[in-house]
Amino acid sequence: MDDSDRENEGFGAHDWADAAGKRWLAQLDRFESMIEPIGAALLDRAGYAPGETVVDIGCGGGWTTRRIAATVGESGLAVGLDLSPDLVAAASDRARGAGLANIRFEQGDAAMAMPREAPFDRLFSRFGTMFFARPYPAFANLHRMLRGGGRLDIAVWAPVAANPWQQRVMAVIGAHIDLPPPQPRAPGPFALGERDYVQDLLESAGFTDVDFGTWSGELRVGGPGSDPESAARFVLDGMHIGDLVRPSGAEVRAAIQQGLTDLFARHRDAGGVHMGAKAWLVSARA
Ligand SMILES: C[S@@+](CC[C@H](N)C(=O)[O-])C[C@H]1O[C@@H](n2cnc3c(N)ncnc32)[C@H](O)[C@@H]1O
Repeated sequence: MDDSDRENEGFGAHDWADAAGKRWLAQLDRFESMIEPIGAALLDRAGYAPGETVVDIGCGGGWTTRRIAATVGESGLAVGLDLSPDLVAAASDRARGAGLANIRFEQGDAAMAMPREAPFDRLFSRFGTMFFARPYPAFANLHRMLRGGGRLDIAVWAPVAANPWQQRVMAVIGAHIDLPPPQPRAPGPFALGERDYVQDLLESAGFTDVDFGTWSGELRVGGPGSDPESAARFVLDGMHIGDLVRPSGAEVRAAIQQGLTDLFARHRDAGGVHMGAKAWLVSARA
């Protein structure tokens, strides 16, 4: 399959080492609580055992890394690897605050970095593997991080069409500004939506026993308890799609914010704003 360099296509640049990392950090609790059910499902599926060593790819603020460290216990180890120095610093602070000793965070590009503890027993990632400019060599590097027979467990978003929380937001924004045509495999949240493509990426990297599970349910947009106004601000300030809106004039931005607030008001209940979502939970053996 084609391994062309798709950097910066589609949704725009994903500058995780700088601006995107800072934006995720500024909304860390909202992001982590919004995707918590998917993290919990992936951790259940992975079923870590005491003593295992695990690398968490694109670990962000380290919520999943801390959960893994608590499960593998003092005889095991969890290493979080992330491009963003700001997120690595925050993740390290949070782990210290939680009193965990068997955890470490490292700044680096998972496409080429090799944490010193490699090869690991296990590799985990919740939404951290969709941003590689050159995914084929990047997945080959992930394969090298694992010992022979080691297991990978990753969560990636299913296509936009199966994710109303994104599709409906894009429809509101697209009514006000021209959105770039979708580039299904371009680096970004939906780069790994096609199952055949993910299977090919993994098998080309040397993985076997590729298995797809599905998480599908309702996401709390902006985190549990958010109201339509704060969920709209969260989308525009924190999510990738907000990058496309920022260059617009104040009037257009205000109209989009109002459109999103109206959308979310139609999806509100006592627990906050809820919209349908779907992710693949993918496992494979090195
Ligand atoms: C959508 S966030 C998910 C964060 C975290 N896994 C979570 O679920 O809370 C994506 C994360 O992947 C990181 N990331 C993106 N590309 C990366 C790369 N090539 N190497 C390491 N980390 C990367 C980003 O910095 C960001 O923290």
